Amino acid sequence: MSKIKIAPSILSADFSKMGEEIADITEKGADVIHLDVMDGNFVKNITFGPKLVKDARKYSDLTFDAHLMILNPWNYIERFAEAGADIITVHQEACKDRLKDTLLAIKNLGVKCGAVINPDTSVEEIENIIEYCDMVLLMSVFPGFGGQKFIDGVIPKIEKVKKIVDATGKEIDIEIDGGITFENVGAVKKAGANVIVAGSTVFNHPDRKEAIRLLRNL
Ligand code: DX5
Ligand code: ZN
Repeated sequence: MSKIKIAPSILSADFSKMGEEIADITEKGADVIHLDVMDGNFVKNITFGPKLVKDARKYSDLTFDAHLMILNPWNYIERFAEAGADIITVHQEACKDRLKDTLLAIKNLGVKCGAVINPDTSVEEIENIIEYCDMVLLMSVFPGFGGQKFIDGVIPKIEKVKKIVDATGKEIDIEIDGGITFENVGAVKKAGANVIVAGSTVFNHPDRKEAIRLLRNL
């Protein structure tokens, strides 16, 4: 089984002191910093762009995982790569028939790439391009906001992706994002997810170190 990595989403951090928040979760045992980039078009919320990613580098050496919830992501991948993203994920729903080309363009920039699907998009939509991915991200909420309820229907999708990943023989991470709690984290790992995004469960916990430890070990 692939190594479990805990990826706190800074969407639930205090944006007015983002550097300190990122340093805090780095020190408290996170493996990956999950950066939710939203454009107000692909999703109904607006967060931040490459400048924050660049400035955040001063506060953490962890893997920066940029989850682009934006239209026409190909117009921005170079800037996120230059800003210091280690992996860039793009939505199938935003890329459609340009998904494979966008993934390859990300790889060409020397950055890891991943495809994301929403809860109502089937695994078949990305089946043929999984071999080009370093990571597959399955949304377990409709993207846009933190603190939503986990959609159980994603569990069989994780199992399906896990089978496809195993058949490639490649090291491809499976990331789950949205509504992860201490109650459901065991089930998503059992289904095959190894990169666990958690926003509110980590940032709203009085003891973030304990929250990260529990997400890793439960
Ligand atoms: C949702 C984002 C998630 C979100 C997760 O649009 O992609 O990363 O911040 O937050 P929680 O863990 O609170 O659902
Ligand atoms: Zn996300």
